[in-house]
Amino acid sequence: MNVLDALNWRYAVRQFSDEKITSAELKGLLNAVRLSPSSYGLQPYKIIVVESKAVREKLLLHSYGQDKIAQSSHLIVFAAQTQIGDTTVDNYIDKYAKITNKPHSELINFSEHMKSALAAKTPEQRQVWAHQQAYIALGNLLTCAAVMKIDSCPMTGIDSAGYDEVLGLDEHGLTTSVICPIGRRHSEDMQAYSPKVRFDYDEIVMEI
Ligand SMILES: Cc1cc2nc3c(=O)[nH]c(=O)nc-3n(C[C@H](O)[C@H](O)[C@H](O)COP(=O)(O)O)c2cc1C
Repeated sequence: MNVLDALNWRYAVRQFSDEKITSAELKGLLNAVRLSPSSYGLQPYKIIVVESKAVREKLLLHSYGQDKIAQSSHLIVFAAQTQIGDTTVDNYIDKYAKITNKPHSELINFSEHMKSALAAKTPEQRQVWAHQQAYIALGNLLTCAAVMKIDSCPMTGIDSAGYDEVLGLDEHGLTTSVICPIGRRHSEDMQAYSPKVRFDYDEIVMEI
């Protein structure tokens, strides 16, 4: 399926069937999401996979009755880091040095540049920035899932503080950004047949 066909096929699923996606599909999808770009490459978030029904039943209490988070095959939670600063950069530089085979001494300017850019932001701005990076990964997940014929529904209609508590995110220095149940659409989900409501090309694309 080409990308446009995949994007027309996908929709925000209202009702999932109880069919599971395979672990190979899940791994393939998450490996694609892992390749998402991010500001400076810092990837200041985690991608949490929740399969346990028991945990998802607890999360349902913080999902305003949107029971698809428990019905779906798996629930993906994108969680942004809460402590963003020099350590975020140091961890990345360690990884960068290892992968590129460069000594740390060659990366000092790069590291200092990232550290000062982050230090110039307020803590609130750093948190917003981290959430923005998580949303890029969400966008990739939606597109990659569609190409792989995996159904999904991006969701922010949740109480993120409740999610943080149930998942114990605080102790990992994380906070919920956005969630996305994935799986297979229910055959009775009529939303699958609703037309796509989008602004026309000329209404949304400005050619200057
Ligand atoms: C950030 C974000 C949050 C959303 N939150 C919810 C949600 O909580 N519940 C829900 O059913 N749909 C949610 N949606 C789905 C949108 O309503 C849906 O993507 C939009 O109406 C376009 O329809 P389509 O995705 O079916 O093409 C969300 C979408 C995004 C991108």
